[in-house]
Amino acid sequence: MVRAMIRELTAALMEDGEMLIKFLKDEYLIRNFKLDDIEALVRYANNYNIFRWVKDNFPYPYSIKDAEQWITVSRNTNDGLNYAIANQNELIGGIGVKFKEDVYRYSWELGYWLGEPFWGKGIVTEAVKVFTKYLFNHYNIRSITANVYEGNKASMRVLTKAGFKLDGVIRKAVFKEKLFWDLYVYSLLREEVK
Ligand SMILES: CC(C)(COP(=O)(O)OP(=O)(O)OC[C@H]1O[C@@H](n2cnc3c(N)ncnc32)[C@H](O)[C@@H]1OP(=O)(O)O)[C@@H](O)C(=O)NCCC(=O)NCCS
Repeated sequence: MVRAMIRELTAALMEDGEMLIKFLKDEYLIRNFKLDDIEALVRYANNYNIFRWVKDNFPYPYSIKDAEQWITVSRNTNDGLNYAIANQNELIGGIGVKFKEDVYRYSWELGYWLGEPFWGKGIVTEAVKVFTKYLFNHYNIRSITANVYEGNKASMRVLTKAGFKLDGVIRKAVFKEKLFWDLYVYSLLREEVK
């Protein structure tokens, strides 16, 4: 038990305040955003097939200026923790949590996206597993939630495979692309993490 915890903690290396978690046989990383990421961020984030499933504050089209702003903001915000998903060569996606306030402060909200060429390889499922473990090991939170829009089967599947449970559906809570959609709310409790 203690050994397993030490393994997990050492897997999440903190180098000079830099976040680094390796996963899927060290082929992929969760790490801080870097200014070098701008080109890859624009290449993969500038995609309607991503935009349609995320909040409107994720821009579309996604410009170089948006990427520069995001990289600066993501490293300096007090609103949450935001990291890049990367392979050995470049950034391929993003993962993070938004802090919540008041009575919700022990429950953070997870978000993620992946460049379309990398979909369907199990990358985000594994990223969610290692990232949620990291969060529970390093922060005094009770649960992690995730909000998925009606129809986003891939994201629902990721969460289920990563151990999240569907808490419920908030009807027509989402207004996206001029239409109202149901919101599927998932959560993972501290004691459910293996
Ligand atoms: C959701 C997303 C992050 C998934 O990343 P990924 O690395 O491709 O996910 P994984 O490969 O780990 O798992 C995807 C699962 O969904 C399944 N899936 C994909 N499309 C599906 C569909 N249309 N219907 C049903 N299942 C689907 C895959 O088969 C896989 O399940 P399996 O392992 O049982 O076969 C990626 O598709 C994405 O960035 N989408 C746009 C942004 C987004 O939706 N963000 C989340 C907002 S809540």
